[in-house]
Amino acid sequence: MDFRDKQLDEATLDEIRSLIIEGLISYQPFVFAEDLEAGVGYEFEEGHYAGLVHFPDMPDDLRSSPGLARRLLPAHNKLPFRDANRRLSAYYDYIIDWVLGEVGEANTLSFLDVGCNNGYLPLGFLRRSALRAAGCDRQDFSRVFRLLNRINGSGAEFINAWYEPATHRLDGVGSFDVVTSMAMLCHVSDPLHLLKALGEISHKALFVWTLFSDDEGNVVRYGDPRGDYPGDHFPYCFDNMTVISVPLFRRSAELMGFSRVVELPNLDEIPSYAWKGFPFRGFLAIRD
Ligand SMILES: C[S@@+](CC[C@H](N)C(=O)[O-])C[C@H]1O[C@@H](n2cnc3c(N)ncnc32)[C@H](O)[C@@H]1O
Repeated sequence: MDFRDKQLDEATLDEIRSLIIEGLISYQPFVFAEDLEAGVGYEFEEGHYAGLVHFPDMPDDLRSSPGLARRLLPAHNKLPFRDANRRLSAYYDYIIDWVLGEVGEANTLSFLDVGCNNGYLPLGFLRRSALRAAGCDRQDFSRVFRLLNRINGSGAEFINAWYEPATHRLDGVGSFDVVTSMAMLCHVSDPLHLLKALGEISHKALFVWTLFSDDEGNVVRYGDPRGDYPGDHFPYCFDNMTVISVPLFRRSAELMGFSRVVELPNLDEIPSYAWKGFPFRGFLAIRD
């Protein structure tokens, strides 16, 4: 999402810089100014940690802090970073339009994105006239939502709730016509319980975009715990590279009462993303 046409004032840019320094803006593709943008697109295309924020004016004394050093883009990679994030942004927009094409008119539907990060999806659904669009996340992104709503002139809701692995519950969000969840299932130890929690709050459709294996049976594969959530002890510590098979997703959707499952088609002009050898794929489970 490109906000350069909004010509953000210096106070707003300072607020964005602070949120970047705090680690609250980095992953989703947003362009705030010529020399201030974020997005994981370049890392997705390179296949390794390569930089999440282009912020050449970052104060020198902050540059070397481990958290920021991991996120900051080396300045000489600005152009490929920018291009990759334009493609990622186009990909998110493609997903939003594709989901809408499958589920119906946005202005009659409510949307919730689980693991919403900065709210690209709720903002995208609202830009297409959604009746209501919200996000929830394990990290508190409410300040980023307020900022982006102000810039965008929108009313995306941040709900301070998350899927709690130890209880297998996603409390406090209510239910929505369409629930989406992208690149989040790969961060939980109990993907079937997560699917159940997502399915229970989806009236009409559930879209899940995550890492899939090509196993033919019902398979869950785990990576090594990364320690993102130090309070998540065994067996909830597998927070990285949880991969499921397509038959397992399809069968789960059927067992949850969805009537059909459609796969997000790949587009020639937009790269298909993968991480550590496993492709990201998107499936929409629909109740007809
Ligand atoms: C890889 S990012 C993906 C962000 C966003 N869905 C997207 O695709 O642009 C994973 C997001 O899931 C969130 N997350 C991880 N575990 C979660 C949980 N148990 N409940 C809700 N959000 C979670 C993280 O805080 C992070 O914002």
